[in-house]
Amino acid sequence: MSPEIERAVQLLRAGELVAFPTETVYGLGADASNVSAVAKIFAVKGRPQDHPLIVHVPGVEHLDRWACEVPEKARALAKAFWPGPLTLILKRRPEVIDAITGGQDTVGIRVPNHPLALELLKAFDGGVAAPSANRFGHVSPTTAQHVHDELGDAVAMILDGGPCQVGIESTIVDLTGERTTILRPGMVSAFELGKVLGRLPAIGGADAPRVSGSLAAHYAPRTPLALLQPDVVIFAVREAMAANKRIGIIAPMACPLSDERIVWRQISGEAAGFAHDIYALLRELDEMGCARIVVQKPPLNENWRAINDRLQRAVAGSGS
Ligand code: TXA
Ligand code: MG
Repeated sequence: MSPEIERAVQLLRAGELVAFPTETVYGLGADASNVSAVAKIFAVKGRPQDHPLIVHVPGVEHLDRWACEVPEKARALAKAFWPGPLTLILKRRPEVIDAITGGQDTVGIRVPNHPLALELLKAFDGGVAAPSANRFGHVSPTTAQHVHDELGDAVAMILDGGPCQVGIESTIVDLTGERTTILRPGMVSAFELGKVLGRLPAIGGADAPRVSGSLAAHYAPRTPLALLQPDVVIFAVREAMAANKRIGIIAPMACPLSDERIVWRQISGEAAGFAHDIYALLRELDEMGCARIVVQKPPLNENWRAINDRLQRAVAGSGS
């Protein structure tokens, strides 16, 4: 075991917070069976107490330590997608603490696909509760530097595993009802889930169980943010220049004009590449003192569902 992992495990056992990389976003980790450690997560994030946390475990064999009544379809999904960006919502075991479940009778579980996270979880040999390592409502961090900028000394340790490969949060699937339901879309799509389940999952609505990511004002930069169709982007640029204001643009095309008031960031036209970079770019532009950030609206098809979901929430919560 590396000295770094050894120290992280010691800190977790001592009830301290350790931020760690996953393939989706960085997590703010605490021992999931330690009430006061879990309470620290809520304090540091400024997160409402009734929002449940995902328990991260090193492998599928840990499933039954947290969940009971695990249906075959849950095991099939775990086998197909773990380690990976998929969170399963299952009936909780009675001993799972209320702070983890938000007082509900279900628990969210995931095996992240990142070598450092897996090393940490294996060495810890327990569950690590971890929300995204940002202040409540803000953009999720995808580098160790982002975590440092967000939380600074409020965490005992930040494990640096480089930039997150997926870049947006896991797909959350509720397996406790008749019909399997996606509560939060992610880069594991409804189609991929449907292939394993033999039936497409439902997409959860407003009456779905509490998922904090489903609040409108979430994943948001502070700068006002707009999603604009490709042909309108250039008008927004002209408008900003006419008003002598700095504008940030995120679009798949190259910047057509050069002016110091335009902060243009080219992003991939593919969903995976877009997801990989979007949070880091929003964060970067947010810090550049732009009057406005414009993201070119991505396509509206299934491949882009999770990205559109995050962008719409970012627009709803921006500027606050
Ligand atoms: O990719 C991810 O899922 C990242 C990494 C760190 O694993 N984690 C993450 O955690 O996004 P967080 O707390 O920012 O978002 C987890 C979401 C929350 O919206 C929470 O309400 C929901 O999962 N959740 C957790 N347990 C739940 C449960 N039992 N029922 C319904 N929703 C649940
Ligand atoms: Mg979050």
